[in-house]
Amino acid sequence: MPLKVEKKDLSGLTVLITGANVGIGLETARMLCEMGAQVTIACRNAQKAEAAADDIKKTTGNRPDTALLDLSILESTADFVKGYIAKHQRLDILINNAGVFTTEKAPDGLTQDGFETDFQVNHLSHFLLTVRLLPLIEFAAKNKINDFTPRIVVLGSTAAQFGKIDYTYLQNADNIPQIFNRYANSKLMNGMFAKKLGEKLEDDGIVAHVVHPGYVASEIYSKPDYKIPKFLIGVIGFLVNTTFRTNVQGAMTSVHVAISDDAAKSTGKYWDACKIATFPNKAIEDDRIVNELWNKSEQYLKEKGFEV
Ligand SMILES: NC(=O)c1ccc[n+]([C@@H]2O[C@H](COP(=O)([O-])OP(=O)(O)OC[C@H]3O[C@@H](n4cnc5c(N)ncnc54)[C@H](OP(=O)(O)O)[C@@H]3O)[C@@H](O)[C@H]2O)c1
Repeated sequence: MPLKVEKKDLSGLTVLITGANVGIGLETARMLCEMGAQVTIACRNAQKAEAAADDIKKTTGNRPDTALLDLSILESTADFVKGYIAKHQRLDILINNAGVFTTEKAPDGLTQDGFETDFQVNHLSHFLLTVRLLPLIEFAAKNKINDFTPRIVVLGSTAAQFGKIDYTYLQNADNIPQIFNRYANSKLMNGMFAKKLGEKLEDDGIVAHVVHPGYVASEIYSKPDYKIPKFLIGVIGFLVNTTFRTNVQGAMTSVHVAISDDAAKSTGKYWDACKIATFPNKAIEDDRIVNELWNKSEQYLKEKGFEV
């Protein structure tokens, strides 16, 4: 079935998308700008961010703001939040889109903060970002525009089905598992984070969901140090019995969850192809594992001086 998103007037709504200079994030930002939202794209490369903003302006007439955010560095994440809070009173839609599939492996296998890269970029820094931005989302919930329910959209993946929660390698370069495993593990954490957030924020009138964008032939498979040849993408598609979506198609589930009335009716769900689907991994429904991940994430951040 072809994917489709309804259009809505998003004037007055404030949106933040991480890693929106290419791929799914760029097309998500473009669609939301087209609908009149005030969008900020938070990216680690200023030049790429400006080029993306210019491109969006050219196609929609609405230029998003740009901001610097490197999720592989906790200090950068905390600084970004400070800057964002200084400029904005409210946040209606937060889309945790940025993600890495095993790239930027530091020489010793860990980031400068001492964490495995996929874990820090895909989960831990987004945890810090989200929790510190909650006051702005809560403000939006108390001061709704056009009765819009504020929400958090986390980009997960069906790859979570192959993930497991393993704390032994997150700060130990000697134990780091194979590329696909560490990505899948981080995507499992994304699912758990969204589920728990949904639960925690239910009484505040804020919803949180995790989405699988589909298999999308974006840049995630072609980073300089881990390039998958084009024909192999076809082979992967064949093996997982899917054809790859375009970036625009990949953005549709994020946009649907970000703006639809449908997505405001529930919280903590997993979405694929603009519909609620079964969690890709049963561990996401295990409160003990989910609560432990939440507590450990807080603990990791506290140990590095970033209390949440
Ligand atoms: N493509 C798929 O098939 C697929 C499937 C399931 C889930 N997903 C998820 O969808 C999301 C978007 O992926 P995509 O396919 O659009 O990938 P992409 O084209 O590689 O885009 C990823 C974005 O994340 C940014 N990013 C990477 N590391 C960052 C960091 N340290 N700090 C800030 N930003 C950073 C990238 O910035 P640079 O341009 O500077 O690298 C880029 O803007 C990811 O969370 C991914 O896990 C993708």
